[in-house]
Amino acid sequence: GKPWTVPALAGAKREGRKLVMLTCYDAGFARALDAAGIDLILVGDSLGMVVQGRDSTLPVTVQDIAYHTACVARGLARALLVADLPFAADADPGRALDASVAFLQAGAGMVKLEGAGHKLEVIRHLVDREVPVCAHLGLTPQSVLRFGGFKVQGRSDAAADRLREDARAAQAAGASLLVLECVPSGLAEEISRDLEIPTIGIGAGPGCDGQVLVLHDMLGLDSGHRRPRFVKDFLAEGGSVEGAAMAYADAVREGRFPDAGHSYA
Ligand code: KIV
Ligand code: NA
Repeated sequence: GKPWTVPALAGAKREGRKLVMLTCYDAGFARALDAAGIDLILVGDSLGMVVQGRDSTLPVTVQDIAYHTACVARGLARALLVADLPFAADADPGRALDASVAFLQAGAGMVKLEGAGHKLEVIRHLVDREVPVCAHLGLTPQSVLRFGGFKVQGRSDAAADRLREDARAAQAAGASLLVLECVPSGLAEEISRDLEIPTIGIGAGPGCDGQVLVLHDMLGLDSGHRRPRFVKDFLAEGGSVEGAAMAYADAVREGRFPDAGHSYA
């Protein structure tokens, strides 16, 4: 297929084609995932946990993300590359733009940032300056200290209303994509129907417009942390790294993953 572009993402949603995303941190895996037909690759700040061995994403720096983005970009021919703005790099619009420029110059096609509230101004600032943005709501891991752990979000009526409003506001601010993490399936499906931009779920049920998993989780590697409910090892059925990525992509595109056992009711 031809290389992905930002406008093509909304086109895929209109046509009912699911988007398949995985995280990746180096060129070797990037080459395999690109060959497997993965649509979107995320250099996530999850690298703090799965690559650097830390307990949260908070210590990850702009330099860390820029380095891994450059490594991954060299391995891709077709997938759209998204780079995470790490903790506090998006605390104000100017800092966020400086970091985003570094990521785009390293080969990213979009940046991702967590939250709404004052982050809406950051999204507008970036989009106005030609930086495509992916928003991220629900369980935002950079909020771990305030949340007191990694917990499902949007369970109460008030929290669900807030999430619906934040999703609309992120789209209105100019986001091209929205990651929903650890959100009850019904709520994520409702938000996905409400928005024109595609939603990408992780622990957010089958009603999202696409899915993302952390590469290490998709390959069944033990992270040393408690394994969340939505994680599935595709290496056993796939037989190789590329085969696992293809098995995951097929399961997402055919609506077989995630099932109820890998979602929150
Ligand atoms: O950092 C990351 O890997 C992420 C995904 C889990 C969405 O933000
Ligand atoms: Na992240």
